[in-house]
Amino acid sequence: MADRVRPGRAVSDGGDPRRLLESAAGLVGAAPDGPPAGPLRVGVDLGTASCVLVVLDGDGRPVWVDSHPSGALRDGVVVDFARATATVRLLRTRAEEALGVTLASAATAYPPCIPVKDARACTYVCESAGFTDVVLVDEVTAAQRTLEVVDGVVVDVGGGSTGVGVFRGGRLDALDDRAGGGHHLDLVLAGALGLSVEDAEVHKREHQRDSLPVLVPGLQRIAESVRAMTRDAEELPLHLAGGALMITGAGDVLAEYLERTVVTYPHALLITPIGIARSAA
Ligand SMILES: Nc1ncnc2c1ncn2[C@@H]1O[C@H](COP(=O)(O)OP(=O)(O)OP(=O)(O)O)[C@@H](O)[C@H]1O
Ligand SMILES: [Mg+2]
Repeated sequence: MADRVRPGRAVSDGGDPRRLLESAAGLVGAAPDGPPAGPLRVGVDLGTASCVLVVLDGDGRPVWVDSHPSGALRDGVVVDFARATATVRLLRTRAEEALGVTLASAATAYPPCIPVKDARACTYVCESAGFTDVVLVDEVTAAQRTLEVVDGVVVDVGGGSTGVGVFRGGRLDALDDRAGGGHHLDLVLAGALGLSVEDAEVHKREHQRDSLPVLVPGLQRIAESVRAMTRDAEELPLHLAGGALMITGAGDVLAEYLERTVVTYPHALLITPIGIARSAA
C-alpha cells in the first residue's frame, strides 16, 4: 500500500528537514564557501558502516559533511578503538583544514540500550581524536533533533542495528534497539546471488529495483523487529532514518507489512549525524 508512505515533511516550526538534508547532501565532497560564521557545532557519528562528521554554522546550517568507512564498530559498539580514533582524527583534520578553524568540541552518539561503558567508549574515541569537550547523546534522540517529530516513532536502521524511539508531544517516551540493519541485507543478497558481501553491498546500491524482491524477507525481519519494539505505539507513524532503508521501495515494504504509515526522507543516512551536531554544546 504505497499510499501509506509519505515523503518527509516539516513537522514543527523548526524548519523543513528535507531541505536541511538536501543542503547537507550537497556538501559531501564539496569545498566550503569561505570561512563559516561561528560558533560552529560538530557532530561525529561513529557508525558501523561509516563514520560521518558534520559541522553546522552559527545559524545551524550545515557547512561541512564528510565520511569515511568505519570498520571499527560491530552492532554499533566500538570494537577497534585505535581504528575508530584514527578515523575520527582523519575526519577532524580534514574539516579543520578545509574550514580553516580549530574544532575543539563535538557531540557523538551511541546506539540506545548498550551498556554504559560501551556508550562511554564513543566519548573516549572522540577525546583521543583531539576533541577536548565531548557531549554524548543516544542516536535516536539525535535523529529526532533533525526530524523534530512530535508524535511519532523514529526508526534508525543503520549498517548493524535498528534503533527505535517513541516520541509523544515531542518527548521521548520509549527507546529500544536491536541488531539488524543494512549489513544483514547484504548477507541475504550475497547468499541469494552467490556474491561476496562486499560485492552484494555494491549490487544493492546500483541495482536497487532488482535487489528489492530478494531483500523483502530481510526487510520484513527489520519490520518485525520494529513491531516488537513499538507494541505500545502502533497508532503512531514511523519516520525512517539511517542508510539501510534508503533502498528504493523499502518504505513501501514496511508500510504494507506493518499496515502503518511510514514517513521517508531523502539522504536518510544524514539524519542522525546532523542531529548529533545539533546536540553539540
Ligand atoms: N543509497 C543506498 N541504498 C541502499 N542502501 C544504502 C544506501 N546508502 C547506504 N546504504 C546502506 O546503509 C547502511 C549504512 O547506514 P548508516 O550510515 O545509517 O549506518 P551506520 O550509522 O554506519 O550504522 P549503525 O547505525 O548501525 O552503527 C549500509 O548497510 C548501506 O548498505
Ligand atoms: Mg547509525
